[in-house]
Amino acid sequence: MHNVLVLNGPNLNLLGTRQPEVYGHTTLKMIEDLCVSHGNSIGLTVSHMQSNHEGALIDAIHAARGVQAGIVLNAGAFTHTSVALMDAISSAEVPVVEVHLSNIHAREAFRHKSYIAPVAIGQICGFGAKGYVLALDALAAHLSDGGSG
Ligand code: DQA
Repeated sequence: MHNVLVLNGPNLNLLGTRQPEVYGHTTLKMIEDLCVSHGNSIGLTVSHMQSNHEGALIDAIHAARGVQAGIVLNAGAFTHTSVALMDAISSAEVPVVEVHLSNIHAREAFRHKSYIAPVAIGQICGFGAKGYVLALDALAAHLSDGGSG
């Protein structure tokens, strides 16, 4: 079993009630439970964390080094602004799959830019809560390939 972290950023604690027309009705707790159970079924031990604070997310990425085999990251709006998160990922040497519930490329222009994408192994967006399951599958495939692709 590989340990992986599902890390959610700002405002994602409000899922279920936050703009359901954009983000759906699934709560963060439901997503976290889904990740734990799906992870279990594909050989991943999933822990999870959510923070509204950029520094706390950076600390979690630093702490993942040497502990987590990978991270599924929805950095929320920090995706579009945070060089610091990008640098943390580069420094941590832990593979990251970027995930977004919405299709950020079909939304406002400021959401098209991701500081996470260049340092992630890949990006999944537009599939709602299912995107986390797809991200775990992608991470498991990456890890079973020996981390090459
Ligand atoms: C989001 C997309 C971001 O643009 C937004 O700021 C979020 C959620 C998503 O999951 O679709 O907070 O990351």
